[in-house]
Amino acid sequence: MRVRAAVLEQFAQPLAVQQLDLAEPRAGEVLVRVAACGVCHTDMYTASGVDPSGYAPTVLGHEGAGVVEVVGEGVRSLAVGDHVVTLFSPQCRECEHCRSPKTNICLAIRDQQGKGLLPDGTTRLSRDGEPIRHFMGTSTFAEYTVMPEIALAKVSPEAPFDRACLFACGLSTGLGAAMYSAKVESGSTCVVFGAGMVGLGAVAGCRLQGAERIVCVDLSEERLQRARGQGATDVMLGGPDTVEAIVESTGGFGADYTFEATGSVSVMRQAVESARMGWGLATMCGVAGKGETLDIVPRYLITGRRVAGSSFGGVKGRDQVPQLVQRYLDGDIDVDAFLSHRITLDEVNKGFELMEAQDGIRSVIEFGGS
Ligand SMILES: NC(=O)c1ccc[n+]([C@@H]2O[C@H](COP(=O)([O-])OP(=O)(O)OC[C@H]3O[C@@H](n4cnc5c(N)ncnc54)[C@H](O)[C@@H]3O)[C@@H](O)[C@H]2O)c1
Ligand SMILES: [Zn+2]
Ligand SMILES: [Zn+2]
Repeated sequence: MRVRAAVLEQFAQPLAVQQLDLAEPRAGEVLVRVAACGVCHTDMYTASGVDPSGYAPTVLGHEGAGVVEVVGEGVRSLAVGDHVVTLFSPQCRECEHCRSPKTNICLAIRDQQGKGLLPDGTTRLSRDGEPIRHFMGTSTFAEYTVMPEIALAKVSPEAPFDRACLFACGLSTGLGAAMYSAKVESGSTCVVFGAGMVGLGAVAGCRLQGAERIVCVDLSEERLQRARGQGATDVMLGGPDTVEAIVESTGGFGADYTFEATGSVSVMRQAVESARMGWGLATMCGVAGKGETLDIVPRYLITGRRVAGSSFGGVKGRDQVPQLVQRYLDGDIDVDAFLSHRITLDEVNKGFELMEAQDGIRSVIEFGGS
């Protein structure tokens, strides 16, 4: 079939919306009609050419939600008409990692996905016979996409697509960091660095876990106001004295849980140093620049602080994304507050501009006919 899609032709150039060919799903694959898709930093990062593992030409996009149109041979867990959220972090339920409760990092299709290929090592996307790669195994800046069954979470059909799509990346990453990676205990004190999509999600996750105090740190007053809306009890403008201020406001000890959601290694260090002596857990969500390292004075660790990282919030996508979407439908998560702009596929580059200007939290592409 012919589909309209936003193609990264060359790094550091605007995406080009055009017609591509999309082949039928093969065994274990599913054709999804994409109804909505968020524009995320990772798309922009790859488009910029700074990401050393990036490739082109490819169809970007990974924050998608849509409807199953066709299922390939052997697909059992999904049927035509199901509403789905796309998962750049799949869950095969069979590999050693999927069988362990300790991680959400599935091993099943990692190598091929990293190369922009579907699990059988080929692409369904092409242009005049030339293969076009599948970015993050999702390629949701397109009217339709073919994805592995194991990379689709079946969600409630009651969730509007423009809200459901936010669970495909940033929102689940933040919520999950608090709920599944750190497993915040009720009554605890938490500090979240960064009030973008991920940090605000982490604030909401801490609230859902019953944290007593949630301090959010950012450089933007406007974003700190948004953090209050998600449940932050205290807000703070970030700076060189942040650690001191946090330690002071927590009786001289630091917080039970800290979360870093900025991508800055100096903020990561602050997150470690403002975790509580004895048991404080610092969880890193941000993606640092190539070659950057995190400096930690070992004394912080010897005296009981722990440091961990969280990919996609530790969320086992097929099992837990539907649960998070249900909590939104139950009224526990204010997703509307994250949806700042609705744009069309043709305006995808405007989505990047809005993000660069920190205008709102998320722009969502809505596809016609949904
Ligand atoms: N681990 C994962 O699976 C995963 C998934 C998605 C995104 N990410 C990463 O998470 C990070 C956050 O993503 P986002 O979409 O929320 O980004 P964002 O740019 O919208 O938000 C980052 C926030 O950090 C704030 N900030 C910057 N410097 C700061 C400082 N010194 N002190 C306090 N706040 C500061 C900014 O003002 C901004 O509000 C990025 O690095 C992104 O790549 C990770
Ligand atoms: Zn993303
Ligand atoms: Zn697996």
